[in-house]
Parts: sequence; structure tokens; C-alpha cells
Amino acid sequence: MTISEIQQEILRIKKEKDICILAHSYQAREILEVADFTGDSFKLSVDASKAPHKNIVMSGVRFMAETCKILSPEKHVYLPNPHAGCSMADQMDKQLISQVKKMYPDYTVVAYINTTAELKTICDVCVTSSSAVKICKNIENDNILFIPDCNLGDYVAKQVPEKNIKLLSGGCPIHACVNTDDVMKAKALYPNAELLVHPECTPDVVALADYVGSTSGIMDYAIKSDKKEFIIGTEISIAEHLQYMCLDKKFHYLSQKLICPNMKLTTLIDLYNCVKGEGGEEIFLDDDTIRDARKCIDEMIRLG
Ligand code: 13P
Ligand code: SF4
Repeated sequence: MTISEIQQEILRIKKEKDICILAHSYQAREILEVADFTGDSFKLSVDASKAPHKNIVMSGVRFMAETCKILSPEKHVYLPNPHAGCSMADQMDKQLISQVKKMYPDYTVVAYINTTAELKTICDVCVTSSSAVKICKNIENDNILFIPDCNLGDYVAKQVPEKNIKLLSGGCPIHACVNTDDVMKAKALYPNAELLVHPECTPDVVALADYVGSTSGIMDYAIKSDKKEFIIGTEISIAEHLQYMCLDKKFHYLSQKLICPNMKLTTLIDLYNCVKGEGGEEIFLDDDTIRDARKCIDEMIRLG
């Protein structure tokens, strides 16, 4: 079968079985082409909760599928490749953060959406990379414990100096591996290009950027900008997608190291097998987990 024939089959089966396909922007182009919705992690879970379909297939990583399930407990939610985790989300668990909370009893615990559903149950409010600054500003408490990403947390702390923000040493190993040497090399090669980076990058890289934002933020900025050349400081698929979308502009990778192996695990074949009911994993969360994790997400909506 060709790629196009597999895509046609996926489209046919999803209609027949009332399936909504969500694909995170870090997924491959052939997957994005068959998706009902694409975008960043939070937008996708909101899209899923509004979609009328009975079944949701979340082509991304596990915490994203869990977020869909929390927001749409009545729907069947599937992850096409059960091995697709997130190195950041897997760094901190409920046990660890329960201990840390005892050290900071007066702090509001802010969890990046890249956390497990189980960990969300003991946090106060969730944030995404696009909403973190606004939500931290709006939190009534001045003391904030921000988990797990210390790079995003540092970025937020600089934008919200009026709050006392405590960080733990977690983060995305993919974004954290680019350094200022990579930036200097890229700027030397492409002196007219603007540097757009995700706040999961280290503070010294973020300090050199022309724009800092979420996956969707970077894409919107580049599409709307009058500038013609960009260095993209997030997962390399974003530069690829932008290049297809904006033929009159040039996009360069900040570094070839920016490849998320977790996001790359899911293939079109995984998606095909999943919609056929011959692969993937259905996400099950118990009622208590859904109820408690949901509070943290509802608080994000209230404050955002
Ligand atoms: P977004 O929330 O920007 O989609 O980011 C998710 C992610 O995992 C970035 O590494
Ligand atoms: Fe997780 Fe980093 Fe991959 Fe995003 S890029 S899914 S934070 S490991």
C-alpha cells in the first residue's frame, strides 16, 4: 500500500467508526494530513472535548491522551503507540511531589501540562507554555512552586517578578540540549533570520531569542511576520511544517539535536492499526483521578 492509500483507508475507517483524530504539531506530515485537529497539547484536548465523536485517537504522547480523557471521560480515548511517553512528564511522580509539598505548605503548586494525570491530582493548577505567564500572574497566592520544567519556570519567573517562584530541576532533555554555541553557529550561518524558541530551552538560549512562545505561538508568529527567514528553536518538525505552509519564507533548524524520539515513535502505520482496532492502547483512568486532575485543569481555565 502507498502512503496515500493508507491515508485514504484511515479517513474511511474513522468516518465509519465515528473517530476524531487529533495530532500534535510535532507529528509527521502524513499524520497531520489525516487529522481532524492539529495544534499544541492543550488546544487539542479542548478540541477533543468539543468534538461530537464517540472515539478520540490522540496522535502524540501519553500525557496528551490522558488530558483528553480527563476532559472527555465519557469518550473512548486511544494512544496509537503505547510507548510514546514524554521524558519530562515521566520525571516527577505523585510520591516525590507529595514530599516536596510538605516543605512548601504555603505554596500554590503549578503543574505544566506535561505531567501525568496522577501527578495532576495533587497539584493546584495546570499551565501550558502559552498560558503559564498569564496564569502565574493571576494566581492569588504570591508563593508558587512550579513543576516540572525549570526552564519554562525560569522564563515565567522573569516575566512575573512580583511572585516568589520556586523551581525544581526537571525539564525537557530535548529542548535543554541546545546551547548558546548552537545559537551562535546558526546566527552566523543565517544572519538575517529571526530566532524563535520554545521556553523549554535553557535561559541563556531564551535570552538570545527574538520571540519566545509555545509550539502554536511560534507557528503563528512566523506565519504572520513580515520577515522572510527564521531559525526555529523547537522540535524540528515545526520548521518542516512551516516550510510547507510558507513557501515564500525560509526556515532553519536551530539544531539537528531537536528531535523528540517520543513524538517520532508514532507512525502512520500505528495510526492505521489503531483506527482498525488492531493496535494502540485505550486510556483508562479511575473516577477519582479524573475528578482530582480535572480540578487542576478547570483552575487553569478559570485563571487563563
Ligand atoms: P506545546 O504545549 O507547546 O504543544 O508543547 C508540548 C511539548 O511537549 C513541547 O515540547
Ligand atoms: Fe516531552 Fe520534550 Fe518530547 Fe515535548 S519535546 S514531548 S517535553 S520529551
